[in-house]
Amino acid sequence: MEPIARWDYAGEGLDEQQIPAAPWELVRGWVEQARARSQQESDLREPDQISIATVDADGGPSVRTVLMRYLEPAGPGFYTNLDSRKAVALQENPKIAGTVTWAPMFRAIRFEGTARLLDRDTVRTYFESRPWGSRIGAWASAQSQPIHDRTVLEDRVRELELKFPDTGHADDVPLPDNWGGYLIDCHAVEFWAGRSSRLHDRLVYLREGDGDLADDCWRVERRQP
Ligand SMILES: Cc1cc2nc3c(=O)[nH]c(=O)nc-3n(C[C@H](O)[C@H](O)[C@H](O)COP(=O)(O)O)c2cc1C
Repeated sequence: MEPIARWDYAGEGLDEQQIPAAPWELVRGWVEQARARSQQESDLREPDQISIATVDADGGPSVRTVLMRYLEPAGPGFYTNLDSRKAVALQENPKIAGTVTWAPMFRAIRFEGTARLLDRDTVRTYFESRPWGSRIGAWASAQSQPIHDRTVLEDRVRELELKFPDTGHADDVPLPDNWGGYLIDCHAVEFWAGRSSRLHDRLVYLREGDGDLADDCWRVERRQP
């Protein structure tokens, strides 16, 4: 085996003096900087990818990567199939955690909270913005269910392409009832900034009382790396 490559995480760090009272501006700033980097450098292809952890009714954890296509003061969110394994777990236990990692920037944000379904208007607006092929795919895939082989899926796609032909209009493929999205109503948001010798900065916003990411209801705690 090749020797392990070791990187010194020589990031800028993060200190209490430079952060806002509520996490929203910092979340938005880091996401915008990651998106900007993805346009300029080849080391960060998908700045919106977020790993989402859920727990099923038996306490079994599972984690998968999705795209953070919703980001508002109400929380970060994503779109998915509402019969998928993650969605079934969230119906049983709405506790959820998500981590966005931008390794080339020595940064990560961790979100913890409760999953809330996105409203249908928000879901429809996003669905209609997707390419026709992806909208067909949402109908074709019974996400998380076993399938005999790939041809079954491809045959279903061909049928749906005939049923919902591409007219160039946003409403040529209707929104499936079982396609939707969730946001994380956060009670904790951690900003991780990598620094030399593994002496990273970790600043955790903890929600005290009601409010969203932009509201004045957060206290900040520094944690050891
Ligand atoms: C980069 C990347 C982006 C993904 N984006 C999504 C997404 O936005 N929504 C989604 O449902 N699955 C997405 N997936 C697929 C999920 O990782 C996962 O396979 C799927 O949601 C089924 O998960 P589940 O069986 O735990 O419900 C993505 C996978 C990768 C690697």
